[in-house]
Amino acid sequence: MSLSDCKIIELPKIHDPQGNLTFVESDAQVPFGIERAYYVYDVPGGSMRGGHAHKELHQFIVAMSGSFDITLDDGKDKKKFHLARSYYGLYVCPMIWREIDNFSSGSVLMCLASHKYEEADYYREYDEFMRARWAAA
Ligand code: TYD
Repeated sequence: MSLSDCKIIELPKIHDPQGNLTFVESDAQVPFGIERAYYVYDVPGGSMRGGHAHKELHQFIVAMSGSFDITLDDGKDKKKFHLARSYYGLYVCPMIWREIDNFSSGSVLMCLASHKYEEADYYREYDEFMRARWAAA
């Protein structure tokens, strides 16, 4: 899998004068089974999150409130996405380095993930990620 597999996915939006509703289901709107959700909030201005890649984890990242930028890097090419709405998100496949910054004040990042948290699934060193990436290519 590579950068071209990572894409913005627009989610269903049920319009209602009393408020909109959006939903996500396993193997439907996102191309994986969802086993975990986590969210990042109270991010101080100027912070950078991410700075790692995952070996097998699939993720879908949504700006539930506010906005931020996600830069994806497959070891060859880089692509930057601006997330700013709760009715679409970014699908990130395994073996992609990501950096997340430019958080607006009060923003909330929600991530749906294909597996439970496992530190052994992370590449936290860019060099190590690059070596594994090219070994797998
Ligand atoms: P990390 O994935 O590095 O956060 P980010 O990509 O947003 O910068 O995780 C930060 C810390 O939180 C790290 O010590 C691992 C822990 N953590 C969990 O315990 N469970 C989880 O589901 C996640 C995503 C992180």
